[in-house]
Amino acid sequence: MTFAVRYYTKTGNTKRLAEAIAQELGVEALPISEAVTEPVDVLFLGNSYYAFNIDPEVRDFVLSLDKEKVGKIVNFGSAAMLNSTYKKVKAEADKAGIPMDEREFHCKGEFKGLHKGRPNDTDIRAAVEFAKQFK
Ligand SMILES: Cc1cc2nc3c(=O)[nH]c(=O)nc-3n(C[C@H](O)[C@H](O)[C@H](O)COP(=O)(O)O)c2cc1C
Repeated sequence: MTFAVRYYTKTGNTKRLAEAIAQELGVEALPISEAVTEPVDVLFLGNSYYAFNIDPEVRDFVLSLDKEKVGKIVNFGSAAMLNSTYKKVKAEADKAGIPMDEREFHCKGEFKGLHKGRPNDTDIRAAVEFAKQFK
């Protein structure tokens, strides 16, 4: 199995999750500005909700992926109120012709005094455990 980890972050929460997942998988966590150039079996994609939607950069990143190079996408991230971005990301992945794994990781993310410290150590450990099952 080959892995890549990409993330989009505004306040650092997704980056922390991405780095923990990437370390477990033995790869580097990179921002989505870094294109996926090598073929990978599984692309872990960290993203979040901003004003009830995924960021347009995340949407464009998914649309730019080469279905010949990316076996599937695994979604992960955090949000303050909403649950997973899965459906939003899947809508773009469908357009790109790339399957999404049904499994995903989601936890609360700090935002304006809500959920202080999240993702916390427990969330990070849970993200690492989540990543382990793909190895
Ligand atoms: C500009 C902005 C808009 C946000 N809008 C939402 C939202 O609509 N729903 C929600 O659940 N969380 C919202 N959040 C909270 C983020 O999803 C949450 O803080 C997440 O952990 C941020 O991840 P990041 O630090 O990687 O950017 C928003 C955060 C920011 C900064």
